[in-house]
Amino acid sequence: MTNSNLAWWQTGIVYQIYPRSYQDSNGDGIGDLPGITRRLDHIARLGVNTVWISPMYPSPMADFGYDVSDYCGINPMFGTMADFDHLLREAHARGLKVILDLVPSHTSHLHPWFLESQSHRENPKRDWYIWHDPKQDGSPPNNWLSVFGGPAWTFDEKTGQYYMHSFLREQPELNWRNPQVRATIYNAMRFWLDKGIDGFRVDVITRMIKDDQFRDEPRNPNWNGVNPYDSLLHIYTKNIPEVHTIAREMRALLEQYPDRVLIGETYLPNHELVNYYGAQNDECHLPFNFQCILLPWNAQTMRRAVDAYDASLPPGAWGNWVLGNHDQHRVATRAGATQARVANMFLLTLRGTPTTYYGEEIGMQDGAIPPEFVQDPPALKQPSIAHIIGRDPERTPMQWDDSPNAGFARAGVRTWLPVADNYTTCNVAAQERDPGSMLNFYRALVQLRKDEPALIAGAYASPDAGAEDVFAYTRTLPGANRLLIVLNFGAHAHTLDLSRVASRATIAIATGMNRTGEVDLAQLDLAPNQGLVLRIV
Ligand code: GLC
Repeated sequence: MTNSNLAWWQTGIVYQIYPRSYQDSNGDGIGDLPGITRRLDHIARLGVNTVWISPMYPSPMADFGYDVSDYCGINPMFGTMADFDHLLREAHARGLKVILDLVPSHTSHLHPWFLESQSHRENPKRDWYIWHDPKQDGSPPNNWLSVFGGPAWTFDEKTGQYYMHSFLREQPELNWRNPQVRATIYNAMRFWLDKGIDGFRVDVITRMIKDDQFRDEPRNPNWNGVNPYDSLLHIYTKNIPEVHTIAREMRALLEQYPDRVLIGETYLPNHELVNYYGAQNDECHLPFNFQCILLPWNAQTMRRAVDAYDASLPPGAWGNWVLGNHDQHRVATRAGATQARVANMFLLTLRGTPTTYYGEEIGMQDGAIPPEFVQDPPALKQPSIAHIIGRDPERTPMQWDDSPNAGFARAGVRTWLPVADNYTTCNVAAQERDPGSMLNFYRALVQLRKDEPALIAGAYASPDAGAEDVFAYTRTLPGANRLLIVLNFGAHAHTLDLSRVASRATIAIATGMNRTGEVDLAQLDLAPNQGLVLRIV
């Protein structure tokens, strides 16, 4: 049994790079494209097959690249178009696919389109953005809030109207009801697809269309009083039905090219998330599933989440799992360093395409950001909740070695964010030398996923492990080895009776890379924070 009938985005693993933080090659303390190219061998040796690069387009960097001022260019900070072409060629030469971040929902306030739109009410591009008259008292048109704090509306003195922004005021929302906007962004997508990129991760795809009646959003009765943005239910700015027409158009565009992938950033509960596959499987190939990130790290919560997600996938839909990204605290911090291996084992044995955030392969943790270093806009705007919403800690430079600046930048360079303190021990070079390191564990897991067809296409079921802290599941594919994964989310040892699954099994891999041989499933010893992948014999 093989998985040869599956697409590359089904059999492979996505590796996300935040380009500012991966590798600096020109001594400005900010990562760049030649830096990524230099590190492609590291990525290829992990065994992953896809690199997703967060935005590297021209941008004033108000939101570190998620405020685009030219959809078809390269930010000089990151290099040139020739550097990009080189990166793409070198990645493809190593069998790596390259996915770009598409940020279609908003532009930079300095994008020429917005400057035109803002210049005059009669400007032909006025309607490319979402403008609205003030209320009679001059206040914003409605109660919509910005995800990053404050109202979602900014008043433009010159033309006497408000424009809408779901994020910063430096990120005005495009009006996707305007056909010219759609056509123009679609042309930008073609520009990159014609170059040979392998797909897009679409930023905030769920927010591309807003209510055309501009209705107030209702109060959230369950608000916990922490983040003001959560005080409303976002029924008129997020996930409104017309957004699916856009997802379908984007997918249809991609279908004109062979073998490309469309991934959506979809922070939604399952019953809404699955709609982004499309009624005819004609929207996203992979609407991102963020449950591993958002839910508390404990065995029973995760078991319920995986059971529910797996059961909710419609026919023909391919699942996916994400452990971390540039917007969320790192898993080795959220779950704790002692759980970092369990987390990688979990990600790489679940049913669905895994996404790894750079650094997870060595167990990188959130960096400590001294107050004078804080740069993330929502953290600066809302200091009292910066520790919750601030995203600098998970964006610290990749830790390559124990030299000053961790090999990310030349010694003596001031890096854009400080390197995390633990870089002298937690780095690629040190882990390369240690056969039992997280890095080598990660590689071995990826290899196991390639060697065992059931880990990719096998059905999922979760037998009761008999211990609150333990989550066990099987992956079963006719004609292939059957696998049992047993994960201890807690700090206590257990002896488990899993004889209802089978009587004996052999250890394919253990989190410590320190256990092999046959085990009796009626009396399976599991150490604290240990995970096992077992081949049922
Ligand atoms: C997405 C990005 C995030 C960005 C936001 C606004 O959520 O992942 O980093 O700040 O969109 O573009």
